[in-house]
Amino acid sequence: MIRIAANFVERAATLASKPLNILVLNGPNLNLLGVREPDHYGSQTLDSIVSRLAQVSTGANVIVDHMQSNVESELIQRVHACLDDGTDGIILNPAAFTHTSVALRDALAAVRTPFIEVHLSNVYARESFRHHSYFSDLAIGVISGLGAYGYEAALNALLRELGQSTS
Ligand code: DQA
Repeated sequence: MIRIAANFVERAATLASKPLNILVLNGPNLNLLGVREPDHYGSQTLDSIVSRLAQVSTGANVIVDHMQSNVESELIQRVHACLDDGTDGIILNPAAFTHTSVALRDALAAVRTPFIEVHLSNVYARESFRHHSYFSDLAIGVISGLGAYGYEAALNALLRELGQSTS
């Protein structure tokens, strides 16, 4: 009985100390943030958005990894890698693939890593072809229209879902 209790405490301590691995995955054209249509996407670069995520996760036992690609198959391969690389959650902005990519959707459905879908712009206030997402029904939640802050909000929400908090 005592041994079971001790094992439980040990296991809980191990779980509590394991850092959470969060992948920030960005799709096509987001490498151009800062110069690309600032009226829609703001003036921050992708580097500054990712640096801010690293900053807010300091001290929270969180490791943030980032990848951006303009190539659908590279994004799919990165999602597949989540099966055995210890990724606990994904902050995903599929960009234009949001509205087109059944293949990337299927990759997320296959690996089942929890994710939050983020869009800098409010896609519902734009052209109707942006109103449909192949990802939203699989996502824990969707953040759209909060600009760069949406990524930070997504990180907080994801960590809360995974049982950890930045504050
Ligand atoms: C976007 C919205 C998409 O419709 C668009 O194709 C993008 C960026 C956003 O962050 O607002 O590239 O995902």
